[in-house]
Amino acid sequence: MHSVILAPMEGLVDAPMRDILTRIGGIDRCVSEFIRVTDGPLHPAALHRILPESRQGWRTAAGVPVHPQLLGSDPDWLAHNGAWLADLGAPAVDLNFGCPAKTVNRHRGGATLLREPETLYRIVSAMRAALPARVPVTAKMRLGYSDTSQTLECAQALADGGGCRDCRSRSHP
Ligand SMILES: Cc1cc2nc3c(=O)[nH]c(=O)nc-3n(C[C@H](O)[C@H](O)[C@H](O)COP(=O)(O)O)c2cc1C
Repeated sequence: MHSVILAPMEGLVDAPMRDILTRIGGIDRCVSEFIRVTDGPLHPAALHRILPESRQGWRTAAGVPVHPQLLGSDPDWLAHNGAWLADLGAPAVDLNFGCPAKTVNRHRGGATLLREPETLYRIVSAMRAALPARVPVTAKMRLGYSDTSQTLECAQALADGGGCRDCRSRSHP
């Protein structure tokens, strides 16, 4: 059984768009636009702005779950904020290792980390350790930053760190 996940798109797939598309149907779950984590706790207002569904049971009005997506490179602060989201009832925490935007990559977020499989491993395993077992850790990557020479190494690092293959599963990894 496969499930259909609505691709996150910063600036495009926001809460109103998620609402419209999930009312039409055919979507099993959504992932939020990325929420940037630098070196501190997330502000509740930022969460509410990006993911207003977090105050509505983490679901769109049509009842489709919305998973928060975090972007950053600091394992400890990502894990700290992931744990906060889990406390608020987030159904899963997704990590962004796919964004190729220069402004994001300059601050060591998104796809640039695909050149550092060791960092991917440290981030995912810190997140896994910080979340209760019932909350899956997922990650979105692209084939590579500039080539595909490390694709499998990166995917393996995410799996080894505890990213789950199927976030419908409740057991980990
Ligand atoms: C404007 C725009 C914003 C995006 N924002 C995100 C994002 O916030 N998080 C993420 O993981 N991917 C993001 N993506 C990547 C998309 O989810 C998708 O993986 C990508 O567009 C590949 O699909 P495509 O080949 O059909 O474009 C974004 C893509 C676009 C074009």
